[in-house]
Amino acid sequence: MAPVITIDGPSGSGKGTIANRLATRLGWRCLDSGALYRLLGYAAEQAGVELTDGQGLAQLAMDMVIDFQQEKVLLNGDDVSLVIRTEQAGNAASKVAALPEVRAALLQWQRACAVDPGLVADGRDMGSVVFPEADVKIFLDASAEERARRRYNQLIEKGLSANLGSLIAEIRERDDRDRNRSVAPLKAPDGALIVDSTALTIDEVLERVMDRVRETLPELK
Ligand code: DC
Repeated sequence: MAPVITIDGPSGSGKGTIANRLATRLGWRCLDSGALYRLLGYAAEQAGVELTDGQGLAQLAMDMVIDFQQEKVLLNGDDVSLVIRTEQAGNAASKVAALPEVRAALLQWQRACAVDPGLVADGRDMGSVVFPEADVKIFLDASAEERARRRYNQLIEKGLSANLGSLIAEIRERDDRDRNRSVAPLKAPDGALIVDSTALTIDEVLERVMDRVRETLPELK
């Protein structure tokens, strides 16, 4: 199997940014597994499939035609890059992600992304379930307040309205659901380097991650 680096952590911990930067630096592919759950949550709402209907959702997951392009993601040919980033899609994603049938349906799809020269995979269960044999495992965390503040700044920058108090409450609620579900709960996998990014810049986080990558895979610079 191609080399794999996993980056797990809660929503807003910065794992997407770090995974992308790392993949670009190494010239590897990047898998945003959260986007898969977001695509499914969105597709279910569009198709009128209940977010609790495990079998219906698993079928929908197998029927989705997904195309990750440079800057955008297509679902059955439509550009859904923006709509899957909304809080509504994030909440739907968190609900469908709690169902074992859904996780099983998406497992092989994710494993098939591990191709040469290598894969950086970001999500909640990359190091524990999807790629337990990964070469390097990172768990990126940050306080709920800091993650809500980052999200708030992103929304304001885009000219959208936002309320910090309700963002903190939503993040806590989603964390609770992700950490306490019975299948693939969010937690640091064994052997992972835990990085708390609350008080770190993106470059500082990336350097800590790169130190671990160089230690484990010295052939990479
Ligand atoms: O990282 P994100 O916010 O885009 O993820 C959206 C939701 O999908 C989140 O609530 C948890 C879920 N998820 C998951 O259960 N497993 C993954 N590997 C990735 C995301």
